[in-house]
Amino acid sequence: MPIGDRELSQTVREDDTVARNVNALVLLSNDHRAAEELFSRLKSQRHFNREETIDRLIQELTVHAQIEEEFVYPAVRRNVEGGRRLANHAEEEHQQVKEMLDELGQMDPDSREAEDLIEELHQNMQAHVAEEEGPDGLFDQLRASMDDDALAELGPQISDARISMTVKNPAPEGGAKPTRKDAGGNMFAGRR
Ligand SMILES: [Fe+2]
Repeated sequence: MPIGDRELSQTVREDDTVARNVNALVLLSNDHRAAEELFSRLKSQRHFNREETIDRLIQELTVHAQIEEEFVYPAVRRNVEGGRRLANHAEEEHQQVKEMLDELGQMDPDSREAEDLIEELHQNMQAHVAEEEGPDGLFDQLRASMDDDALAELGPQISDARISMTVKNPAPEGGAKPTRKDAGGNMFAGRR
């Protein structure tokens, strides 16, 4: 049975009160797990809510990218040796992902081209996760260069930003659904 969105948020992410006090890197890793779960759902032959899951994936990756750009990369630039180069590289990769998500938001969710693009996004995401969570990756470098208190302070900022970004760009769930263009294609309008 496919895992529901409510179950996803309960299993992958702590509730908001608890999450506020969690180290920033734990919150970001939870985002990665949530995206992985959505990619798994989309790969399952028995998954029927493709359009809704694609819209949710677009939302998750959009919010994750925005949080990293607003909170994590500035910390990388300030604290990590060679951080400027690392952050610039990561932002270039985000730009590619944004363009892919914009395209995906306008595609027929059941089309072959959407399937191919989801596969490409998944590979891209796996590389992103390895660069951040892998040995000597960005998260290890942040842990080594920032003290625990500074990382702990970043957690509530990220948690609060996630809530306000999610309210601004809600994933469609039943009721009057926005068009796919509104749900995905326009999500980056006005950004960058
Ligand atoms: Fe990330």
